[in-house]
Amino acid sequence: MPTLLIVHHTPSPNCQAMFEAVLSGTGADGIEGVEVVRRAALSATAADVLDADGYLLGTPANLGYMSGALKHFFDQVYYPCLDTTRGRPFGYYVHGGNDVTGAVRGIESITTGLGWRRAADGVTVTGEPDKADVERCWELGATIAAGLMD
Ligand SMILES: Cc1cc2nc3c(=O)[nH]c(=O)nc-3n(C[C@H](O)[C@H](O)[C@H](O)COP(=O)(O)O)c2cc1C
Repeated sequence: MPTLLIVHHTPSPNCQAMFEAVLSGTGADGIEGVEVVRRAALSATAADVLDADGYLLGTPANLGYMSGALKHFFDQVYYPCLDTTRGRPFGYYVHGGNDVTGAVRGIESITTGLGWRRAADGVTVTGEPDKADVERCWELGATIAAGLMD
């Protein structure tokens, strides 16, 4: 069964709202046969990444970059997963206070290095997610999960 790995750093209610919407989308009506594995970024391993077929990444913007937790995840898995995971689909969401540019740039840069294929637009939200933001997160989860169906 194809596996979708969600790697997220979720330190606040606004980040949690985005995470829950993405997770809900992965279970949308009509999506079947996709196993969804969630890991906090500080506990995700290279084995988790190697065992999965696609990825969803979630982080707040911190100090002009992705969270240290998600950066640590990439530091741990980059070389063990390089080449083996090339071409696999991924998506991401970023929550920030006012400027998520550096976090998005970092995610795009590292995933480009890994050779992952972005299979949906990244979702960025600043402040409290509104209904449309939650729907974009849901769509992100549904799109990546649907793409993994056999
Ligand atoms: C140390 C620190 C640095 C932060 N740096 C940024 C930043 O560079 N850009 C940004 O948009 N938000 C920044 N934030 C805001 C966080 O992204 C935000 O607190 C997080 O997404 C959780 O959202 P919430 O506080 O609205 O629940 C920072 C927050 C902290 C605590």
